[in-house]
Amino acid sequence: MKNLINSEDLNLNEIEKLFLLADKMNKKQKKYDESLKGFVIATLFYEPSTRTRLSFESAIQKLGAGLISTENAKESGSAKKGESLEDTIRIIQGYADMIILRHFDNDSSEIALKVASVPIINAGSGNGEHPPQGLLDLYTIRQYKKEIDNTTIAIIGDLKNSRTVHSLIKLLCLYKNITIYGLSIKGLELPQKYVEYINNHNSKFIICKSFSEIPSSVNFIYQTRIQIERIENKNLSIEDIILNKERFSRFSQNTFIMHPLPRLNEISTDLDDDKRSIYFQQAHNGIPTKMALIYSIIKDFYKNKKHF
Ligand code: NCD
Repeated sequence: MKNLINSEDLNLNEIEKLFLLADKMNKKQKKYDESLKGFVIATLFYEPSTRTRLSFESAIQKLGAGLISTENAKESGSAKKGESLEDTIRIIQGYADMIILRHFDNDSSEIALKVASVPIINAGSGNGEHPPQGLLDLYTIRQYKKEIDNTTIAIIGDLKNSRTVHSLIKLLCLYKNITIYGLSIKGLELPQKYVEYINNHNSKFIICKSFSEIPSSVNFIYQTRIQIERIENKNLSIEDIILNKERFSRFSQNTFIMHPLPRLNEISTDLDDDKRSIYFQQAHNGIPTKMALIYSIIKDFYKNKKHF
């Protein structure tokens, strides 16, 4: 794997290899301390981020690589002066051996890839995709349920604009017997192209009109925030899709709650102490999965370099 642009770029074999490496890195972090010494990696972020950027930057430093970073490229970078994304990539690839890009355009990573001479990782492109988050979500599913085949998951909230949902759906569709329940508010339903993707990959998508229609035995509830910055109607009521203690009480002892975060009020804080609330652990899984991702891509891309 030489880049990661869309979740579709990944196959089962690559994912399994990545996860085994992430497991190893989790256990024996010291062994990989200096493994990317001498490489420099750039994080180029045009949209806000806490978890994704900082976990990438932590992973980069844990691997011993150097880091250059622009956290608000839309305002502080040359984009402000009118520079195109292509030109910015052409410049940064002279400074760094890999570029991790977050951008407000859905096709930004493809645009970057066309001109790039270094690996590109898409760390969020508009309301399209967010493959590294999809990977850490899948890694979390594997951690808590052991097998990913036969997973049932209820995806709730802004299914239209949540790029993490889109990436996770595509990854889940690589596995056998996947059932996805969708609960959204009006106007923020899962776009038809993803429904078709699920159907074309032998998985099931079942629309729920309320919480009560989600089976109590579902393995995971994946809650998302409304992407208020991407929608016109800022006054949507999310009352019906808030997950609180009472609504969660009928679910199984083996139903886990996930969220890509940040959370607003769609998961009430009274659920934080429940051992089935795994969203903070999920965020921490960003470190081993990103270490494994960066390491694998660099190793593959620069395999003829003496370093490896
Ligand atoms: C998500 C994103 O940026 O798409 N956050 C993340 O990367 N963990 C979700 C969100 O912003 O709601």
